[in-house]
Amino acid sequence: MEKTYKELAPPQRILLGPGPSNVDPRVLRAMSMPLVGHLDPYFLEIMDEIMELLRYVFRTGNRLTIPISGTGSAGMETCLVNLVGEGDEVVVGLNGFFGQRMSEIVRRCGGTPIEVKAAWGAALNVESVEKALAESNAKIVALVQAETSTGVLQPLSDISRIIKNHDALLLADTVTSLGGVELEIDQYGVDISYSGTQKCLNCPPGLSPITLNERTIEFVKDREGKIQSWYFDLNLIEKYWEADRFYHHTAPISMIYALREALRIIYEEGLEKRWAQHLEASRALIKGLNAMGLETLPTKNNLPSLTAVKIPEGVSDLNVRKTLLNDFNIEIGGGLGELKGKIWRIGLMGINACERNVILVLEALERALRKEGLSVKPGEGIAAAMEAFEE
Ligand SMILES: Cc1ncc(COP(=O)(O)O)c(C=O)c1O
Repeated sequence: MEKTYKELAPPQRILLGPGPSNVDPRVLRAMSMPLVGHLDPYFLEIMDEIMELLRYVFRTGNRLTIPISGTGSAGMETCLVNLVGEGDEVVVGLNGFFGQRMSEIVRRCGGTPIEVKAAWGAALNVESVEKALAESNAKIVALVQAETSTGVLQPLSDISRIIKNHDALLLADTVTSLGGVELEIDQYGVDISYSGTQKCLNCPPGLSPITLNERTIEFVKDREGKIQSWYFDLNLIEKYWEADRFYHHTAPISMIYALREALRIIYEEGLEKRWAQHLEASRALIKGLNAMGLETLPTKNNLPSLTAVKIPEGVSDLNVRKTLLNDFNIEIGGGLGELKGKIWRIGLMGINACERNVILVLEALERALRKEGLSVKPGEGIAAAMEAFEE
């Protein structure tokens, strides 16, 4: 008999892992709107609005603030291939999985990463970044503001100040912060940044918003030789997004509709309110986890959009995640790289950063841990979290 393929019927998960997060129904509806051409006058207006709304969430006046076609890693690659050429030194912050990815891309660009290390679970310190700059010829410092692999929030302002003393550029990964965690591109002095749509923006994965200031645009234009990637060459991409709308590649129309709707939701709600919701939800979650005897990996600088929790001795990482998925329909993440099997990663991103989800995940974890033989008093985590919400 000929093979048949069933209609798609994905389960409706509660996505409390490191991303993707759940998508707002308004965003899904926007994706089903009729297609227009990528040079249609209607679409050109949408492009202008997307740039305005992205400037709003990035808190920047940067002219070149656009979505790159591709996931967060495409944004990472765009920034690095445009900045780094053969023989260039780049200071890279290495305190998690995504810093490692940046280092790898620098190497592929023919550059040399000058790695500034901190423990996975800690933020980088300003002095070690300054030392690396002083002892090298690096003109770029690349680091991750919101390290999804460790749940650490990297403070940016102090580092940015010392970078300016060395006349270098600051590149910040904001994949897990944009739209959910305090981020002020202009005020912090970030020169170039990339993000992703599938975290605090509650969009499907597929676009990478980026922003860069005039100083960085000049840096890219002044570089000798051609940018080694045609697709990610910002000199070419810029021509499609500025007044001339010179064809570069066919924009992913439905994803642009989705991003516009996601940004419109944040604009209507207010960005500061969003930041506050993420902080509130993560603080309550941590109080709940602590009351259950669980500890976060970072001892400070906890990232509001993602909490990394240490797995207690003798508890099976996989069993607990399976219980959450099978019995509660909840996805949380396991550890990456050297943290595999050592932590769980609980994401409360965008619309998911709410009281209901905090209570739900604490209840589910409590049951899963008891199933694993751990003695957790019923309701203790939830009571502590609810107290935190009431404060
Ligand atoms: C901090 C960080 N940077 C970069 C990426 C890469 O993004 P993507 O998986 O969308 O390519 C991720 C993905 O989780 C991330 O969390």
